[in-house]
Amino acid sequence: MSEIVLSAKGVSKRFGGVQALRGVDFELKAGEIHALLGENGAGKSTLMNLLSGVHTPDEGEIFVGGKPALFHSPRDAQAAGIATIFQELDLVPSLSVAANLFLGHELVRPHGMLDSKAMLHAARERLDTIDRSINPAQLVSELSIGQRQVVAIVKALSYASRALIMDEPTAALTVGEVDRLFDIVRSLASSGVGIIYISHRLEEVPQIADRVTVMRDGRVAGVTEPDAPQGELVQLLVGRPLNELYPRRSDNVGDVLLRMRQASFHPYRASPGWQAPIKVDLDVRRGEIVGLAGVMGAGRTELLSALYGAGVPGYWQGEIVLGGRPAKLKSIAAARRAGLAFVTDDRRGAGLMLRMSVGLNLVMSVIRRISPNGLLSGRRQEEAIKSSFGQFDIRPKNPGVAVGALSGGNQQKVVLAKEVLGNPRLLLLDEPTRGVDVGAKVEIYTRLRNLASEGLGILVASSEMPELIGLCDRIVVLRNGCSVAEFSGGVDEHAVLAAANGREV
Ligand SMILES: Nc1ncnc2c1ncn2[C@@H]1O[C@H](COP(=O)(O)OP(=O)(O)OP(=O)(O)O)[C@@H](O)[C@H]1O
Ligand SMILES: [Mg+2]
Repeated sequence: MSEIVLSAKGVSKRFGGVQALRGVDFELKAGEIHALLGENGAGKSTLMNLLSGVHTPDEGEIFVGGKPALFHSPRDAQAAGIATIFQELDLVPSLSVAANLFLGHELVRPHGMLDSKAMLHAARERLDTIDRSINPAQLVSELSIGQRQVVAIVKALSYASRALIMDEPTAALTVGEVDRLFDIVRSLASSGVGIIYISHRLEEVPQIADRVTVMRDGRVAGVTEPDAPQGELVQLLVGRPLNELYPRRSDNVGDVLLRMRQASFHPYRASPGWQAPIKVDLDVRRGEIVGLAGVMGAGRTELLSALYGAGVPGYWQGEIVLGGRPAKLKSIAAARRAGLAFVTDDRRGAGLMLRMSVGLNLVMSVIRRISPNGLLSGRRQEEAIKSSFGQFDIRPKNPGVAVGALSGGNQQKVVLAKEVLGNPRLLLLDEPTRGVDVGAKVEIYTRLRNLASEGLGILVASSEMPELIGLCDRIVVLRNGCSVAEFSGGVDEHAVLAAANGREV
């Protein structure tokens, strides 16, 4: 039997009125990859926060290598060889990639000066193992969410001598990056490091895990084998069977809402790593959900944000027609007036005001739209908040809680709900279900499909191929900023991937 590297015995944790964990036992063996699954708010991140020194348990104990461990900070856990990749990445945006990788462990020359050259070089080598497109001298603030995830992974790998805890590390990665990450994780495990792997992508579980623990409502609901049928996992996860993951497509597609022909975006200033849309051809009709596929860096986020006027400053050329009229997409205000709404993939950066309540976050964005004078009666605000909670199943069901205290998946639901409240004509979504559990995903898909059948057009980028294929009426593939292929009907995943990578099928 292999040694147990990290364990929790009877741990409980309470935040105000929420009992996040109730008497949880958990064991991680040396060399095993242990998947931790559970619905949004089940307590996964809280458990890993206890195991990595972010919080201390109210009750129960943490053990490292069989000995009780008292962590007062993540540094204590790091010193014990336990590395963590947090769900909301803990990188410093204003520092370079290399500076982030060496933060607190800087390389110095004999006379005490920082050895920037050596750090850049070492950073380059470490990054290359996953993603060659990242320049170590670049500021983290200039990276895409997916690239930031890679940096956080590379950073954590260097401390992981005993255990590595990964909280949804692949949420913004595409297939190629996930494969490389899995290779690294496997080789780390075979060297004896224990790995806790948290993910909502159930299809990853049999690929990577040796064992699975499912949490529900702050408790361990069960421990199973990774090759258990997906239906069984889902049943354990959400406590009920889910038959249909994706809603039926509508055959009620209307006229063209957004028409782009040879549309290119020209930034005023070149921005490294920002892939401007180039000669994009694309239509979104009323009632239609159109997917954007592509590898990391293909320009999906850039296309959506430039349409919304939220990308880097610049101007569009080519044809962009919205609702039959040439669109002047110069600013966010203009885009919103034209009926666009945008859910960014960076919920903590641009999407939410974390210290404000869920209720305020929900109504803030709609106040100006549904009430010209900026006032909204208390009753209408309450109605808006109530309908959002119902439609998107935000938990806990308390609009007074600060958004920052919600679990990752529930924050994502708030971002979606708040954009939908504004009654847009065209909804631009970037990774809309990132970090959302399977049960809630099904509800979001159904909600999006219903919105479409009410006449809304939806343009959605997702790095989850099954989601694009299951949800969308059509898929447009971007490569190097250009639209290179389009698929509809029974879409074949391999064909989409081949187009995204510029390969023949
Ligand atoms: N710092 C905090 N303050 C208040 N409540 C918190 C805090 N952290 C977590 N909670 C609450 O504890 C519960 C468990 O949250 P946790 O983040 O562990 O869920 P999770 O399983 O990681 O969910 P997800 O899949 O959405 O990330 C939730 O109800 C959450 O709102
Ligand atoms: Mg979490």
